[in-house]
Amino acid sequence: MRRVLVTGASRGIGRAVAMAFAEQGDTVAVHYAARRDDAEETLRRLPGHGHTLLAGDISDPSVARRIVDDAVAALGGVDVLVNNAAVAPSAENRHSVADVSYEDWQQSWHRMIDVNLLGAANLTYGVARHLIDRGGTGSIVNVGSRGAFRGEPDFPAYGASKAALHAFGQSMAVALAPHGISVTSVAPGFVATERQAAKLAGRDGETLRGESPFGRVGTAEEVAEAVLYLASPGAVWSSGAVLDLNGASHLRT
Ligand SMILES: NC(=O)c1ccc[n+]([C@@H]2O[C@H](COP(=O)([O-])OP(=O)(O)OC[C@H]3O[C@@H](n4cnc5c(N)ncnc54)[C@H](OP(=O)(O)O)[C@@H]3O)[C@@H](O)[C@H]2O)c1
Repeated sequence: MRRVLVTGASRGIGRAVAMAFAEQGDTVAVHYAARRDDAEETLRRLPGHGHTLLAGDISDPSVARRIVDDAVAALGGVDVLVNNAAVAPSAENRHSVADVSYEDWQQSWHRMIDVNLLGAANLTYGVARHLIDRGGTGSIVNVGSRGAFRGEPDFPAYGASKAALHAFGQSMAVALAPHGISVTSVAPGFVATERQAAKLAGRDGETLRGESPFGRVGTAEEVAEAVLYLASPGAVWSSGAVLDLNGASHLRT
């Protein structure tokens, strides 16, 4: 039984990851930012006992530190961190360079880097120091994105934040291996989460499904399975890896 902190687990991929760990007997700290009802629903759905709910905006360094401290206190320690929370692309934060004002461009860059990169970096610091101090092994899995490789023309700050997250994970893999801590990332393509439902149901749906030769988009459960594997002791030799989860929609060399 491991103690797992999953950020951004109010819905979508984070919820599926929390479920996957709980289903194999782990205890989970379900973290969210604002959707308390949804996060409580995640908590309710988790099998087993000892799970806990944690809130906070991870772009605030003191909040990120407090989230780790609270997870350690509530679970009796943390063995696995899943950096899943992110400000993901939406109509409100679209910042295509040809259309957006300089002010909105600034805002998107700051918000996406502050949450997607610095938030994850600060949580990683807290969990890594906790593991080092107690002399325990553990694993950290970052949820990155295919956009880091394929480009995000309408959301360049998002693509850059995910590329940086992958690179950060690789630096941490090297830094933390001597402490028995593995660090990996997954890079999902389009995943059918609540956030993406309208897009999939709309006129772009067919095009999005057609990106993969499987003729469909990914599921949150498929991402969760990969996260579960990468966090397992058997995957320690994958430390430093960035695993593509995109149904062969984008092949990188
Ligand atoms: N779905 C896809 O197609 C896809 C593809 C590639 C990668 N990804 C990545 O997979 C992850 C999850 O995606 P998703 O589609 O499940 O996203 P989502 O439904 O938008 O969920 C994002 C989660 O992050 C939390 N969050 C957002 N801003 C935060 C902040 N400032 N501080 C703390 N938590 C914050 C949200 O909390 P609240 O709900 O409480 O606000 C929510 O739990 C993200 O890292 C995303 O970039 C998704």
